[in-house]
Amino acid sequence: MREALEAWLATAARGGDAFAAVRSAAEAVASQPWDVVQLAGRLARAKYAIAEEDLGLTPALKVVAPDARSAIARIDEGQPYPLYDASGRAGRGAFDTPVDMARRVVRATLRAVEGQLTTGLDTACGTGAFLLAMAEAGIPEIYGTDLDELALEVARIAVPHARILRDDALRHGPPVDVMCGNPPYVPPELQDREMRKELRRRFPWLRGRFDLVVPFAAVAVDRVRPGGAAGLVMPFAAMVQPYGSILRRRWVERHHLMELSGPMGFPGVSIEVALVVLQAGTGPRPLPSGVAPEELLWLDNVPLDPILQPGDVDLIESIRSRCVTLGSLATVDTGLVAHGPAGGKGSLIHDEHAPGRKPYADARDFFAGNRRWIDYVPGKMHRPKSPALFEPNKVVVQRIRGKGPVKAAVDRNGTFVGHTCTVIVPKHPQLDLDRLVGLVTDPLISGFLRLERGQRIDLYPKDVASIPISMDWLSTPGMTVAEMLGLTTESEARLERAAGR
Ligand SMILES: C[S@@+](CC[C@H](N)C(=O)[O-])C[C@H]1O[C@@H](n2cnc3c(N)ncnc32)[C@H](O)[C@@H]1O
Repeated sequence: MREALEAWLATAARGGDAFAAVRSAAEAVASQPWDVVQLAGRLARAKYAIAEEDLGLTPALKVVAPDARSAIARIDEGQPYPLYDASGRAGRGAFDTPVDMARRVVRATLRAVEGQLTTGLDTACGTGAFLLAMAEAGIPEIYGTDLDELALEVARIAVPHARILRDDALRHGPPVDVMCGNPPYVPPELQDREMRKELRRRFPWLRGRFDLVVPFAAVAVDRVRPGGAAGLVMPFAAMVQPYGSILRRRWVERHHLMELSGPMGFPGVSIEVALVVLQAGTGPRPLPSGVAPEELLWLDNVPLDPILQPGDVDLIESIRSRCVTLGSLATVDTGLVAHGPAGGKGSLIHDEHAPGRKPYADARDFFAGNRRWIDYVPGKMHRPKSPALFEPNKVVVQRIRGKGPVKAAVDRNGTFVGHTCTVIVPKHPQLDLDRLVGLVTDPLISGFLRLERGQRIDLYPKDVASIPISMDWLSTPGMTVAEMLGLTTESEARLERAAGR
């Protein structure tokens, strides 16, 4: 990193702009194309900043004291330097794929190609990791597009024979034999409003709180000729959560899914990713696990989750056929969002009790037994919900659980809870609250939800409302959950394994 960073600093100190500085960093390490992609790439993704005091820079471009041991460069006050830019990267979904992962995806994608193999494309190529991995694998014609000029300049130096253009990945173009890449992941709250509106117009099949990765991945696969292949690094959530189900349904119906792995970590971000390889236009065909496409399509959520094995969909179907859903016997909703147009949470939520204030907790406080106080003023809140959701005795479920076991407890104190909780208020007179907590937290239910809806569960109201429950169980106090679900020893063990036990 030192060599690339020194070149950047020297060019910038001579008055060069960010573009010139990044180019000289890339040229300084040009004999090692992966160093260009990764080291000059890191500089391309940094912000061009001016030091307000003497400082040191680490190889990751974090600012430290000028004499800190981790510093590899010293910047004097008033001098330009490249500053690591976490929020800018998140807004653009700019996270570059490490060499091993890019090579692995390219190898698996090439195995999936039928017929000629002349053209390879990455529509959001960034600093060029996939372009270089495709070039190494011997694909003769390589094409890349991205919107980030600095990243593109790095890619041009790393893979000089590739044809690299500034262009929008969401535009259609001529078909290619192979498309490999890692599309930008940008959650709805970080997306530009106008762009989101435009995407809804162009892709009317998009639904709900879609991440930008969904239209990007759809268009990327559409760029591949029939029999060619696409290999993508996807956020694992897009493979299992409801917002990606439309994309997954399209894929399973049209293409042959030839590799599916994950969840696995990705350097520099806290999310986990999945690797997906599809042969274009030759589906539907069985998944790598042997699960039949028609079985998977029978599940509303179409989870593309390596956890799913042959036989699982039959088990889900048999449980569904003997049960109703919790949502038909109870009101299930998320808690309130206390901040709003008229100010932050701070103006409504307090540590002290005062007349008129209601007890309040977010999930963390609720399960730690801590309570605060809220001025319940619907007009000042984003999503106030209703006192009728909070005042009756109810069950509170922690919404985000990931790998962990489900957390739920009874509340008999009329606690107003925040949106990190899901609330269950029984409508059916026989729905006993303590027994309901036992059901919601039962590992067999958690295993069932993980099979049906993906192994990283977030217990949004839709998920909690989908919990299977039978009228027999309601009227038979001693009935176990395994009896209610009609499980054999084998299927019970399957659900326990799925629950991670
Ligand atoms: C996760 S990065 C991946 C970069 C590269 N493919 C890799 O794996 O190393 C996503 C890239 O998408 C680019 N991007 C975001 N919106 C784009 C758009 N509309 N068209 C083309 N590229 C875009 C960002 O600039 C960023 O380089």
